[in-house]
Amino acid sequence: MAPVTSLTASVHQRLADALSAALPEAGAADPLLRRSDRADFQANGILALAKKLKGNPRELATQVVSGITAPELIKDIEVSGPGFLNITLTDEAITRNLAARATDGERLGVPFAENRGTTVIDYAQPNVAKEMHVGHLRSAVIGDALRHMLDFTGEKTIGRHHIGDWGTQFGMLIQYLIENPGRLAPADEVDGEQAMSNLNRVYKASRAVFDADEEFKERARKRVVALQSGDKETLDLWQRFVDESKVYFFSVFEKLDMEVRDEEIVGESAYNDMMAETARLLEESGVAVRSEGALVVFFDDIKGKDDKPVPLIVQKADGGFGYAASDLSAIRNRVVDLHATTLLYVVDVRQSLHFKMVFEAARRMGWLNDEVTAHNMGYGTVLGADGKPFKTREGETVRLEDLLDEAVQRAAEVVREKARDLTEEEIQERAFQVGIGAVKYADLSTSANRDYKFDLDQMVSLNGDTSVYLQYAYARIQSILRKAGEVRPAAHPELALDAAERALGLHLDAFGATVTEAAGEYAPHKLAAYLYQLASLYTSFYDKCPVLKADTPAQVENRLFLCDITARTLHQGMALLGIRTPERL
Ligand code: ARG
Repeated sequence: MAPVTSLTASVHQRLADALSAALPEAGAADPLLRRSDRADFQANGILALAKKLKGNPRELATQVVSGITAPELIKDIEVSGPGFLNITLTDEAITRNLAARATDGERLGVPFAENRGTTVIDYAQPNVAKEMHVGHLRSAVIGDALRHMLDFTGEKTIGRHHIGDWGTQFGMLIQYLIENPGRLAPADEVDGEQAMSNLNRVYKASRAVFDADEEFKERARKRVVALQSGDKETLDLWQRFVDESKVYFFSVFEKLDMEVRDEEIVGESAYNDMMAETARLLEESGVAVRSEGALVVFFDDIKGKDDKPVPLIVQKADGGFGYAASDLSAIRNRVVDLHATTLLYVVDVRQSLHFKMVFEAARRMGWLNDEVTAHNMGYGTVLGADGKPFKTREGETVRLEDLLDEAVQRAAEVVREKARDLTEEEIQERAFQVGIGAVKYADLSTSANRDYKFDLDQMVSLNGDTSVYLQYAYARIQSILRKAGEVRPAAHPELALDAAERALGLHLDAFGATVTEAAGEYAPHKLAAYLYQLASLYTSFYDKCPVLKADTPAQVENRLFLCDITARTLHQGMALLGIRTPERL
């Protein structure tokens, strides 16, 4: 199905044409069109243009107006103030535009982005043998939403879950397991919860021995060397920790209602074979230098206390490679083998210095350049109700699963109260969709770089900017469509529209532009804000315009049509955020 030209784009084109006809010397000038309260749109661009060319803005504006003949699109266009244009569209154009969108399935007439490439997105990256916390929640939720959004614009996306599956702590864990066999059940015999509790137990026990017993500590150190040199027995045990952890990760991702593909879980260890070469390339090109035995990269503008430069450590003096070496190798892999044009990282803002240094080093090497760029979507901290980093009452980090379970429980209360005719099974299913949606929406509706408060009461509230509010709007529309029975939604472009209908229609027209902008700027909160406004405009429409009891059969059909396309837009928009819209609530 062909994409639909948005009303905004059509009006923009007419204005731009009339403007360049009236003022050929201005070239392709932007009329600066935007939605307005006074009319449907206002164009402010003429003012600056006339001033620049030393003309009279009102005269130029008048000339532009007389150059526009588009009666099917523009009902009224007038010069106002010093040289603005106020533009009102015909009702017919609005309905026709929506009717065209309605025939285009899930895409709703939204075109693909003009410049499309391949984005490798690094998100949802927990650490092996460790519990996931709220920080990992953010990365997963934001990354998943960005991925849906980018896919929708036609970008090719490849996921990379850069899990922490390498490092000296494995020496301790593996050595403990060798000395205490049987402490880790085989991965295919446990569920997520058991897996994590096993891992926790092994972690704590091995830590205790490690701290208390010098000789064990030494054996653990030797075990690190064995691991790094690829000793078979050691690697097999390491693999068991990874597999056990993955059982746990997958169970959490499932709770988050999020698809994670096994082949996209490519952790730090996956780049082991590349690291020596990465170091060699850096050193040979002079980007990295030896300093006190280590191989490091210096940056003019990155200094610590005492004004001493803070280097990026590629290789430690003892020969070991760390986090930076794996990230630099990952960049090479993503650029050369995966042919990425964009590298996107969804990682805690506290790692932004690390990425700043890694990206700069990669640029100096030419791995990143004008054609291949990297961005870190550094996200802020999740705060408790007290405004401090989210902790349990005992001061421990909150277990992600507890938090999700609680959200679902709260949602169940809300669902139970509202819908008395649902079976228990239906309540649980809705509660899952509402509860997880609430957690995701709260995260996505604030700009990612800001901290936000984790407040379940607010998140599952039916009033205000919450996912439940949006889900209810959707479910209410579905209920109207069901009640309509035999009467089907149908567009009637000949009908005059009420103000509330026009406002809703014009907002629906902006869905594509919003997705493009939100995806392009990696800003899911802009899509969330759009959807919230859509639900609000729908509510005003619903309050002011009776649907099933409208005056004429044609009007009933046309309003049902508005209901239907609103629902579809809500559904699609929420899906892009990774949130479900139940048919009944
Ligand atoms: N596993 C890391 C952590 O939990 C995040 C990894 C981020 N991605 C990367 N390519 N470094 O802190």
